[in-house]
Amino acid sequence: MAPPSGHSFFLIGALGVFALNCFTRAQRNGTLIFTKENTIRKCSCSADIRDCDYSLANLMCSCKTVLPLAVEQTSYSDRLTIWFTDTSALGLLLNFTLVRDLKLSLCSTNTLPTEYLAICGLKRLRVSTEAKHPSPEQSLLIHDGGESEPREKPTLQRGWQTCMYLSFLDMALFNRESALKSYSVANSASVANNFPYFSYLKTFPVLNNKSYVVTFIY
Ligand SMILES: *[C@@H]1O[C@H](CO)[C@@H](O)[C@H](O)[C@H]1NC(C)=O
Ligand SMILES: *[C@@H]1O[C@H](CO)[C@@H](O)[C@H](O)[C@H]1NC(C)=O
Ligand SMILES: *[C@@H]1O[C@H](CO)[C@@H](O)[C@H](O)[C@H]1NC(C)=O
Repeated sequence: MAPPSGHSFFLIGALGVFALNCFTRAQRNGTLIFTKENTIRKCSCSADIRDCDYSLANLMCSCKTVLPLAVEQTSYSDRLTIWFTDTSALGLLLNFTLVRDLKLSLCSTNTLPTEYLAICGLKRLRVSTEAKHPSPEQSLLIHDGGESEPREKPTLQRGWQTCMYLSFLDMALFNRESALKSYSVANSASVANNFPYFSYLKTFPVLNNKSYVVTFIY
């Protein structure tokens, strides 16, 4: 009997690594953060929890109460779900953070002001407003630029300097029953100058002379 060639060993090894990768990825817990009665709870959940079901989350996930300052994080590498009731809490949790896979659920009937939330590196956004009006969850794929990964490695020091994909979410989108819309502007060296009417952008400290892919979600 001929011994198996080194080539097939290599192939089996590669398949094994691939399978392991898929397995661990499927097993990865998601992060759920919710604010309720002035407390912030941060949870690690192995399953998807029905939107805004706080007691189920406390039961099914591993949760702890965190102080507002302690929750300030600049990047989330895994799936992040946030249940929120107003923009101030959401701004505190998310403004100028790096998140790839984000789900936002509005858990109140509040009307939200037109205010923008800046997120770096967003690939997929899901939005749910079930507490406000009964519409199905919406999903938006913003980019799948895999090659940009190394540039977006979250480092606390460099942070936004390495951000290539910049998304602006209009908070007022949660008031509407219409479909999520977005448009992206690629390689615009100076976004603020290309959108003179969008003077608000100029107040964002990150928009300098750099090349970003900027996406507006509204
Ligand atoms: C994953 O979530 C479960 C609860 O759903 C929790 O018991 C477990 O500790 C979490 N694992 C990690 C690594 O956080
Ligand atoms: C995010 O930060 C910018 C700049 O400080 C601010 O103008 C904006 O209102 C903040 N967005 C939210 C939702 O808090
Ligand atoms: C971009 O940078 C160059 C020099 O680095 C500067 O002269 C120019 O004014 C900048 N443009 C804007 C819009 O900031």
